Amino acid sequence: MKFFIDTANLQEIREAQDLGVLDGVTTNPSLMAKEGISGDEQVKAHYKAICDSVDNNVSAEVIGTNYESMIEEGEILAQIDNKIVVKIPMIKDGVKAIKYLSNRGIRVNCTLIFTAGQALLAAKAGASYVSPFMGRLDDIASDGVALIQQIVHIYENYGFTTEVLAASIRHTMHLIQCAEVGADVATCPYKVIMGLLNHPLTDKGLAKFLEDHQKAQQAAHVAG
Ligand code: G3P
Repeated sequence: MKFFIDTANLQEIREAQDLGVLDGVTTNPSLMAKEGISGDEQVKAHYKAICDSVDNNVSAEVIGTNYESMIEEGEILAQIDNKIVVKIPMIKDGVKAIKYLSNRGIRVNCTLIFTAGQALLAAKAGASYVSPFMGRLDDIASDGVALIQQIVHIYENYGFTTEVLAASIRHTMHLIQCAEVGADVATCPYKVIMGLLNHPLTDKGLAKFLEDHQKAQQAAHVAG
């Protein structure tokens, strides 16, 4: 399972990369706005800085919502770095844009997926990734993990190479559930990745090991 970090914050991206488990980054217009990034040149420079911080797979989302603007923006974004994956929303013109860009060898992540039918369309159009938003489904009392499982199953039936990128992950249990149902990728906030580390028995066990080691050292010192 690949781990992507869902943020445009460079410090978090670099810290996750430094941990050695990061496979990519996803951003969206809200995450870019949260970092105060705006204007074409600043946006491009920020994506370049993200690409320089990781090994591959940096999702950069288009803002346009018609076919012509999406393909134009997609081509500009793809030229920033070959690590860029162009993020296109699941709308009618978006499907056409996915087909156009993927035919030209540009990787696409189709975003705002909430049904298996949308995921099927995106795969047919040639998306490299689809992003079902599990947290936002859970927010409205729908079953986010069930959708991930359904898409994984459908893609397996037909041998689609499109990867299921579970998005809108809010906590560590979401991440574990995605792994259980076979999501190819999970994109999570920094705190969710770091949350996987924690267990009080790990901390207690380590403290005891170190205490016992220290006692043995002291005993050896006294005896010697
Ligand atoms: O990048 C898309 C997605 O992960 C958004 O998450 O928490 O805003 O629903 P959230």
